[in-house]
Amino acid sequence: MTAGGAESLWDFHSDSAPEHGCGPAAVRVRFDVEPPRAERVIDVHCHILPGLDDGAVDLDDAVAMAAQAAEDGVRRICATPHIRHDHDVVVAEIAERVAALNRELARAALRVRVETGGEVAETALDRLDRRELAQVALGGGRWVLVEPAPGPLADGLEAAVAQLDRRGFGTIVAHPERHADEQLLFRLERLVERGALVQVTAALLAEPGSGPVMLDLARRGLVHLLGSDAHSSRAGRPARLSAGVAALQAGGLHPGEIDLIVRGLPHAVLSGQRFAPPLAGRRDHSLV
Ligand SMILES: [Fe+2]
Repeated sequence: MTAGGAESLWDFHSDSAPEHGCGPAAVRVRFDVEPPRAERVIDVHCHILPGLDDGAVDLDDAVAMAAQAAEDGVRRICATPHIRHDHDVVVAEIAERVAALNRELARAALRVRVETGGEVAETALDRLDRRELAQVALGGGRWVLVEPAPGPLADGLEAAVAQLDRRGFGTIVAHPERHADEQLLFRLERLVERGALVQVTAALLAEPGSGPVMLDLARRGLVHLLGSDAHSSRAGRPARLSAGVAALQAGGLHPGEIDLIVRGLPHAVLSGQRFAPPLAGRRDHSLV
């Protein structure tokens, strides 16, 4: 996306009239700390730390991913390396790796900052103690990005949400579109009722196969956060969110809700605020 295009794409109007009959009050959500405009857009899921998991292969790749994001209008990126049995990520090292990358981005004069985090496999939660959970929570707050176990969403994920809640942490369900079956809607409703937030992959919102289902979830208030889930600047999905935002706009989602999804909610997550998923109460089941 060009810089000129970014101006209009990110220019939300939260107080404008809704297009889907859910009154403007439904999208007026107030948090303890409002995100400054300068914070702009936040990518909550990105494998940008170099040479660590299956993400950026080296420092040049990581800087190039950050440049992609900056050019796209993203200002903060959560580093979310896989915390999973098949990746040897030392949780205690994440903060220093993020700091080192931020020093490099400053040297490159890129207007984007990386935050700490992790993408914790549902099956790996048990082996993390409370301190480690805090180290992988996005921005060092209380929200943990959880990668569902392979296959359709199942009871185990609800148990994981409950277990994290008992330990003082909130759950963000990563990319449920990759775990879709005929029970997806039912499962997500139950997870959100239990306090979980839902993150979808921005680029997949714009794809003909997955996009309509994901847009339907967004219209039902079951999408709270966007992530690029980018793994490299050289292949696969780019470290950008704009294609997903454009799909939400084209799909008629209220601008105030889009603003919440790309700025308000991720800012609240990175600030470590405790809050209930704000959009589920206005689900419109007539929209399919
Ligand atoms: Fe990921």
